[in-house]
Amino acid sequence: MSRAPLPLSLPRALLVAVTALLGSAQAAQTPAEAAVTQRVEALLHRMTLDEKIGQLTQLGAGTPGPNKETTDDLIRAGKAGSVLWTINSADIERMQRVAVKESRLGIPLLFGFDVIHGYKNVFPVPLGMAATWDPALVERAQAMAAKESWVSGVNWTFSPMVDIARDARWGRIVEGAGEDTFLGIAMARAQVLGFQGPKLGTPERVLASVKHFAAYGAADGGRDYDSVYVPEVQLRNVYLPPFQAAIDAGSGTVMSAYMTLNDVPASGNAWLLRDLLRQEMGFKGFVISDAWAVHSLRVHGYASDEVDAAARGLRGGVSMDMGSNTYLKHLPGLVKAGKLPIKVVDDMVREVLTVKVQMGLFERPYGDPARKDAVLNDPAHRAATRVAAQKSIVLLRNEGGALPLKAGLKRIAVIGPLADSAEDIKGSWTLEAAGAAVSVLEGVRARWPQATVDFVRGGDMQRAYPLPWDAEQGKPAPSLMPAAEMAAEQARAVQAAQQAEAVVMVLGERANMSGEAASTSDLRLGGNQQALLEAVVATGKPVVLVLLNGRPLDISWAAEHVPAIVEAWFPGTEGGNAIADVLSGAVNPGGKLPVSWPRSTGHAPVYYNHNRTHADETDPKFTSRYANLTSKPLYPFGFGLSYTSFRYSDMKLDRAAIPSGGRLQVSVTVENTGAVAGDEVVQLYVHQRSGSAARPVRELKGFQRVTLAAGAKQTLSFTLGPDELKFWSPVTRRWGVEPGRFDVWAGGDSGATLHGEFAVQAK
Ligand code: NOJ
Repeated sequence: MSRAPLPLSLPRALLVAVTALLGSAQAAQTPAEAAVTQRVEALLHRMTLDEKIGQLTQLGAGTPGPNKETTDDLIRAGKAGSVLWTINSADIERMQRVAVKESRLGIPLLFGFDVIHGYKNVFPVPLGMAATWDPALVERAQAMAAKESWVSGVNWTFSPMVDIARDARWGRIVEGAGEDTFLGIAMARAQVLGFQGPKLGTPERVLASVKHFAAYGAADGGRDYDSVYVPEVQLRNVYLPPFQAAIDAGSGTVMSAYMTLNDVPASGNAWLLRDLLRQEMGFKGFVISDAWAVHSLRVHGYASDEVDAAARGLRGGVSMDMGSNTYLKHLPGLVKAGKLPIKVVDDMVREVLTVKVQMGLFERPYGDPARKDAVLNDPAHRAATRVAAQKSIVLLRNEGGALPLKAGLKRIAVIGPLADSAEDIKGSWTLEAAGAAVSVLEGVRARWPQATVDFVRGGDMQRAYPLPWDAEQGKPAPSLMPAAEMAAEQARAVQAAQQAEAVVMVLGERANMSGEAASTSDLRLGGNQQALLEAVVATGKPVVLVLLNGRPLDISWAAEHVPAIVEAWFPGTEGGNAIADVLSGAVNPGGKLPVSWPRSTGHAPVYYNHNRTHADETDPKFTSRYANLTSKPLYPFGFGLSYTSFRYSDMKLDRAAIPSGGRLQVSVTVENTGAVAGDEVVQLYVHQRSGSAARPVRELKGFQRVTLAAGAKQTLSFTLGPDELKFWSPVTRRWGVEPGRFDVWAGGDSGATLHGEFAVQAK
C-alpha cells in the first residue's frame, strides 16, 4: 500500500503565507484546484534541493548515475521523478516500491514509454489511424492502449506526435496525422482524450505527452533532426494548432523537440517554451525534453558546456530532463553558486508535482498486476485492432473492378518480401510486449480456405542502414539477399503468378524503414521490388498490389500498370486479416489519404493547401511547377476509392453573408449510387479570395465519415464560424476573420468540385 496521501498537515501560518505568496492567480482557483496547490506546496516546502532536482530528472533505466549509483539507489535518494523506457512490470513495481516506501518523501515515479499505437494489441501506425478520418475510433483505440499500459505499470506515454509533415522523405511522417492542420487537430484531440480521459486522474488511463514542440516535421530536406526554419506565420497557421488542440484537451505534458527552430534549439528556447507555450497557449502541465536534448544544447553550439546546458534547459522552459542526467549533475551546483535562483527550480518542481497529484498517482502508484493478463488478452481489444485496420485501408486504384477478388478462387499467388512478415506488419514503435500479428499470407489463407495459396518471397529489400542496436540485441540486421538468390526468387514468383488465377503482391517498406532516424532520399520501392512487380505484371495475370509502408512511396509505374492498389500502411496485430477482409469484399474500404501522394522523390514536398503564387495552374509555363512534371500529386489529399460510388449534390448555405465572427451552415447531400454499402468521408474545403495576406488555394474545414447502404442518401451539415475561418495574419500580427469573399467545396477528396460561395462582412 502507498503512504498516507498528502497533504501532510501544514501549520496554518505557513498556509496563509503560501496563499499570500501565490497571489491572485491562485485566488481564482476552484476548491479542487486549491486542494491540489496546497498539497503541492506542502510537499515542496519539505523538499531538499537534491529532491527537487530529482523531480526534474527522468532516469534512463539501468543507466548508472553521475557517481555510478544504481537506478534504485538514485530513486531511494529521491533523485528521480521518472524512469524512462522500462516496460517490464516487475521492474516497474520494484522501482515504484522503492520510491513510495523507501525514499524520504515517498513521491511516486512516472514510468514513460512510447506507447504510440498500442501496447500489446497493436493498432495501425498513426498515419494509418489518421487515414480512418474517424476521431471517435482513434479515441477508443488510445483508451485501450492506455488501459493496457496502465495495468502493466507504464503510466506515461510519449504520444501523440502531432507534427505536421509535408515531406514524405521525413521518416517520422508515419507517426503523425499527415500534412493537414485541421485533420491534425482532430487526431490530436482524440488521442489525448483517449490516453487521459476527460481529465487527468481518470482511472485506467495514462499521462499523455504531445510532441515535438514545435515544427519538428519541417526538417530541412526531410532529414530527421535537421534544422527547421519556419516563419512565424507558418508556425502559427500550420504547425501550432494541433498542439493547441492537445493542450485544450488537457495534455499533461509537452515534449520539446530536438532541433533548432530558427537557429534556437527548441529544448532551450524560452520564447517557445515559456512565452508561447505557457503564457500564450495556456499550457499548464510540464515540459519533458526529448531524449538527451538538454545535453544536446552543447552539441548544437548553443550552450558552452554541460553546466551551461543545464542552466539553459531550465531557463529555457524544460521542466524535466529526459535521460541525460544533465540537470541531476549540474543544477545543484548552479543553485548553490547563486547562478540560478531557486525560484526557477521551484516553479518547475511545482509543475511536475501538480501533474502527479492531478493524475492520482499518490493514491494509485502501481499498475494492476492481477488484472494485467485479462486486460492484455481482452478479445475486444484485439477485435478493435481489426476494425481500425479495416477502416485505415485506402483503395488507391481499382481498374475494371479488379477488386474484390472472387470467393471461389482456386489458386492464389501471394508474392513479396513483406507478404509473410508478421513483424513488419506491426510498424515502428512496437513494444516488446506486442503480441503476434497476422501476416498478409495468413490472412489470405484464412479468407480462402479452399484455395491453394502459393507463397513466394520474390526477392528482398534492405533498409537504409543497419542499426547498432540490432547487434546489441542479438538480432541480425535484415540485409539484401545475394543477387543470384534474388534472381531465382523472382523467377519463382513469375512461375507462381503464371499458375494462379489472381496475384496478391505485398510490397513497400520494412517497419524500421520509416520512423525515427529513418528519413530517405529515395521513395522508390527498395531492393528488387520494382523489377519483381514489373515481371509479375508482365505475366498478364490480374495483380493486386498491397502496400505496407509508413510514408507515400514512388508508385508512379504501378499507378499506370497495376489494376488494383491497396494502401494498408502498417495495419497492426490483425493487419493480415483486415487486408484479406478488404481484398475479398467482406469489408468495403473507406479510408482516405491524410497526405498528398508525390509522383517521385523529387516531387516531395507536395501538399494541397499551398498558395497560388503566379499564373494559374493551367498556364503551360509560368506557374509554380517543375518544367518536367505537373504540380498535381499522383493522388490528392483526402483521396480514396470504394467498391461503390458516391454522388454529391444540393450544396446549401443558410446565408449568403455573415458578419466577421458569425456562423453559417453548409449542407450537402451524399448518395451511395452503387450496389453495395460503403463508407464515405465527406469533406468540406474553404478558400478566402482576398485579405491582408494570401490564403491557400483551399483548406479542409470539415469532415464526417458516414456509412451508406446501397442507394441511400444523407444530408450532412457543417458549421463554418470563427474557428474555421480565422487565420493569423503576418500583417496585422493577430488571429482574425477578415472580411472578403469565400469559396466552399464539398466532396470526397481535396479535388472536390461541388461549389458554393459566401461573404464575410466587416462588423
Ligand atoms: C526520441 C524521440 O524523438 C521521441 O519521439 C521519443 O518519445 C523519445 N525518443 C523517447 O523514446
